Amino acid sequence: MRTVTIKSEKEIERMREAGKRLARVHEKLKESIRPGVSTKEIDRVCEELIRGCGCTPNFLHYQGYPASVCVSVNDEVVHGIPSVDRFLKEGDIVSLDTGLIYQGYHADAARTYGVGKISPEAEKLIEVTKESFFQGIEEATAGRYLYDISNAIADYVIPYGYGIVHDLVGHGIGRNLHEPPEIPNFPQRRRGLKLRAGMTLAIEPMINIGTGEVEWMDDDWTVVTADHSLSAHYENTVLITDGRPEILTLL
Ligand code: MF3
Ligand code: CO
Repeated sequence: MRTVTIKSEKEIERMREAGKRLARVHEKLKESIRPGVSTKEIDRVCEELIRGCGCTPNFLHYQGYPASVCVSVNDEVVHGIPSVDRFLKEGDIVSLDTGLIYQGYHADAARTYGVGKISPEAEKLIEVTKESFFQGIEEATAGRYLYDISNAIADYVIPYGYGIVHDLVGHGIGRNLHEPPEIPNFPQRRRGLKLRAGMTLAIEPMINIGTGEVEWMDDDWTVVTADHSLSAHYENTVLITDGRPEILTLL
């Protein structure tokens, strides 16, 4: 599929319901974060929560991905694979990225949390990453342009001296987890496509304390910062309207 889809009112209703269910999954899932928990246990809880609300995990088996949630710790940017012998510890930061399918429609969202008490630097990174999403969606209105979102995110993040990940981007979402368009989080010279009501987008800044450069680990999934500095991720599925955007994956 190459073209950006405009969802009908009926599809939007399903997207809203998918988003609401995913928001509840995230609210519950965050209770599983504590020092000593294995990342595999977080995946077990996540899958149970998704299936328990009548939905299907969309990450599981996606291009061979083996879990329902990506659990990315500290210098891991995204796509960390849950493991029975990886344990969270006090002071870590952890991003939980998960999604589900409800009646054929996908929702996708990520949050980054501290495990117990974390450093002020880590706290700041998490806060700025989250706020950059909200700055981005200030531009997300029908009639504006896709890269207005990218530039708003970048303009907010850059003064902090953080590195913006270029190798991974946000995306359209709907009947598929990943649909066009790609949504970069770094500055763009062009304006990109015109936003229209009924577009549904997963906007997901990935921000590092140090360089924006990333590497892939030997498992071919886990993305880590090239300089091993901390990384944070914040994502919601958003509906474009003629007015303010609707954040589908927040309650
Ligand atoms: N939220 C992730 C993304 O948009 C989806 C991860 S796909 C998986 O890139 F296979 F890793 F689960
Ligand atoms: Co996504």
